[in-house]
Amino acid sequence: MRRVAVLASGRGSNLGALLAAQADYSSYRVTLAVTNIEGCGAIGLAREASVEAVCVPSRGVDRETHERAIVALLASRSIEVVCLAGYMRRLTPAFIDSLQRPILNIHPSMLPAFPGMHAQKQALEAGVRWSGATVHFVDAGLDTGPIILQEPVPVAHDDTEETLSSRILDMEHRIYPKALDIVARGAFAIQGRTVKLLT
Ligand code: GRF
Repeated sequence: MRRVAVLASGRGSNLGALLAAQADYSSYRVTLAVTNIEGCGAIGLAREASVEAVCVPSRGVDRETHERAIVALLASRSIEVVCLAGYMRRLTPAFIDSLQRPILNIHPSMLPAFPGMHAQKQALEAGVRWSGATVHFVDAGLDTGPIILQEPVPVAHDDTEETLSSRILDMEHRIYPKALDIVARGAFAIQGRTVKLLT
């Protein structure tokens, strides 16, 4: 069973989904929640679930010092897989390299379409009929790492950013635990940019 840390800066609904689904999987347990924002929803959720929650503040701290503190924390808790879930800080390539553990991220679009902030708004502005949710490995780029799972979500003609975000969020909550289970079981092989799913 893989020990998982979830890094989050906001309300934490994806953390909640990973926690809720873990009873269905013997492959992973969320044993640590890390935030850079004191008092965010994710921290409250973790504590309610009796999961250790630690704030490593980022404000006024240089990036290198902040990331070093997180690396040390993850190592001290024997974390094996890291999941970003609305973690609002870009990680440096040095951090990603030094971690030497899989890092996953969830993004509210069908990557490579609409990377970065406000993906749902970008989708509405582009007039696409479908958007979706993607779980991918984190690399040095912005939402560019190899895709583990993604699922489409229809865009309705009268969608607002809120209604589309909420429909996509439901899909995020479904695919993130599945993708984490795949990674935790080691049921994948990376070939170039492609993640091959094994059984
Ligand atoms: C989600 O839409 C996720 O895709 C994006 O940030 C949002 C986080 O939401 N990366 P929550 O904090 O998990 O509710």
